[in-house]
Amino acid sequence: MSATPRTGTRVTVPNIVSRKALPPNKAQDQQKIVCITAYDYPTAILLDEAGVDILLVGDSLGMVVLGYESTIPVTLDEMVHHTRSVRRGTRRALVVADLPFGSYHVSIEESLRSAVRLVKEGGAEAVKVEGGEKRRELIRRLVEAEIPVMGHVGLTPQSFNIQGGFKVQGRNTEAAAQILRDACAVEDAGAFSVVVESVPRELGAQVTETLRIPTIGIGAGPNCDGQVLVFHDLVGLSAGASPKFARKYANLAEEISSAASRYLADVRSGQFPSDAESYHQPPEVRIHTVDRS
Ligand code: KIV
Repeated sequence: MSATPRTGTRVTVPNIVSRKALPPNKAQDQQKIVCITAYDYPTAILLDEAGVDILLVGDSLGMVVLGYESTIPVTLDEMVHHTRSVRRGTRRALVVADLPFGSYHVSIEESLRSAVRLVKEGGAEAVKVEGGEKRRELIRRLVEAEIPVMGHVGLTPQSFNIQGGFKVQGRNTEAAAQILRDACAVEDAGAFSVVVESVPRELGAQVTETLRIPTIGIGAGPNCDGQVLVFHDLVGLSAGASPKFARKYANLAEEISSAASRYLADVRSGQFPSDAESYHQPPEVRIHTVDRS
């Protein structure tokens, strides 16, 4: 199989930022930023061709592809490997890669090195960093190093052990105010956009109104400047229960199980392969017997 040549102008960081600046009376729905996670080459090709604006190589990779219980075990090497394959399948979409847990928690220098690997070896055009006020300095230094940063506030899956699981965030006044401060800190530090995850829709709307950079919501209601979903949730490939905001647009798990069962039955019953699915020898070729005694 070969790569399909495709053309088109690449989505850039300034393009994404400009989506926020649209006049308020314009038909916003057509302009919303569309982001889906991607972890491999063939999926990247399909999502890119569908016109998705941002392919996020999320560290959700650990849970939906690698079978970990949380995103915590995902390594920088794994992120680089998958980012590279997504970038190879992308002609138009902006490729953003997650900095995984542990790759930006020890020192600024190590964090810069981690981000440089995602950009230089993986081909990411921006990195995503979880956390708000406490990441202010890191985001500032990354941007200073010419690496565009997407922030991530609200539910931050790498805080699994601190937040005690995957729970809706910002449900009381104090928690909501902290999320708003986190989003502002990310913007002030120089991030070009921010993911807002699992918060009440009213808070998603307030963060969106307050910031000058686009918000990309996931479980944050309809008023964000864009939306992101995990690919496996969207196509019905996730093992286990999906969160309530994850609308399922296909049921690929059923399709794949059914295809595998039908193949299995056909092989066992001798229906596969058929004569049409077999190669034929030219009539002049004689089959020699081999004396194996
Ligand atoms: O890792 C991921 O897929 C993410 C999205 C849920 C935003 O961070």
